[in-house]
Amino acid sequence: MYMKKNFCLKVVLILIGFNVCISVKFFSQEAAFIKENTDFACRQIENILKEVGDPNNKNYPRTLATDKSLKTTSKYDWTPGFFPGILWYLYELSGNEKWKICAEKWTDSLEELKGFTKHHDIGFMMYCSYGNAERLSPKSIYRDILVQSAESLCTRYNDTVKAIKSWNYREAWNGNKWYYPVIIDNMMNLELLLYAYKVTGNKKFYNIAVTHADTTLKNHFRADHGSYHVVNYDPETGIVLHKQTCQGYSDNSTWARGQAWAVYGYTMMYRCTRDRKYLEAAKNFADYYIEHLPEDYVPRWDFNAGQDGYYPDGNSYAKKCPKVTTLKDASASAIVSSALFELTALAGEKRYMEIATHILKSLSSPRYRAQLGENGNFVIMHCTGSLPHKAEIDVPLVYADYYYLEALARYKKIIENK
Ligand code: GLY
Repeated sequence: MYMKKNFCLKVVLILIGFNVCISVKFFSQEAAFIKENTDFACRQIENILKEVGDPNNKNYPRTLATDKSLKTTSKYDWTPGFFPGILWYLYELSGNEKWKICAEKWTDSLEELKGFTKHHDIGFMMYCSYGNAERLSPKSIYRDILVQSAESLCTRYNDTVKAIKSWNYREAWNGNKWYYPVIIDNMMNLELLLYAYKVTGNKKFYNIAVTHADTTLKNHFRADHGSYHVVNYDPETGIVLHKQTCQGYSDNSTWARGQAWAVYGYTMMYRCTRDRKYLEAAKNFADYYIEHLPEDYVPRWDFNAGQDGYYPDGNSYAKKCPKVTTLKDASASAIVSSALFELTALAGEKRYMEIATHILKSLSSPRYRAQLGENGNFVIMHCTGSLPHKAEIDVPLVYADYYYLEALARYKKIIENK
């Protein structure tokens, strides 16, 4: 009897030891994966910094031009916050102070934007830059700039529509007039408002964020949880006038990056409010996205491009483009990978972690990660900015790198906390 017990104890101890070995091996492999990708990103971004020099109002890295040179934008475009944000993530991932010094310089260059009200993207512009600055190196000046930026965003809110206006007047592809277009991307700007609420206690910020998210939840999604890109409202009555697309394939299709913004946006809304309807929404939108993924975890630029029943309306752009149905958008997957790392803990569902990791591994493979010194020195290849505008097709995009590095930083935290 004693011999039998002793034997069982030995077997259990061997099994525990075996599991500990496997798990130590797993964590050290993953730490090496994160380090290798961080080192690579540092080398690429160092090259971009050498090329652009100091910030000068118009040299915010964005993508590759058609002649393969680096394309930059002015600070008034929607993307200037991503490059400072990348520098903050490199600081977080590498722990090297030199990135902090660079990140501060590029972040400070955007201060003037705190009063910007010409489009809704002030959330991207200021929260990706100053929001990360405040998170990693808190200062009262950062806080004040973020709160002022949130005030600027609130000027675009209309309580009849119960949403923030994304763009000023523009025409749809079929000639419809959009006086109050709200795009799904706008969900991403709400984190700035919820931050401002947290630090000031001013309920206005909270109410606008929650009301906008609720209006979007009501009007921007189909029964299958796919999203419309643009919903245009009558600003006098709040009535929905049009549900259309601007950057997707057709009005009734689901544009991949739009769906990615929805997954990230509602995950963030649940983190900041703990209202369970946002958790359900985030899971539904994530499940739609995951169900439509191909084997390499990077979607086509629009989930319905070229399918029966989905036709570009009022413009034949999509039919003319030979790569229209095969083009990928790696930026969408970078956004979703980052969101799913967060959703894993919030939903308590490990399956999201598995997908987030698969996406990260795919983006880090030679299929999507550039060779050193290539791809305009951006990290991620094969993104689509806007096919309908014939702009930024199969290129790197600064926001793909930003969300890729955010995903890597989130994964690093998970691995380090085991
Ligand atoms: N927010 C603009 C875009 O996703 O292209």
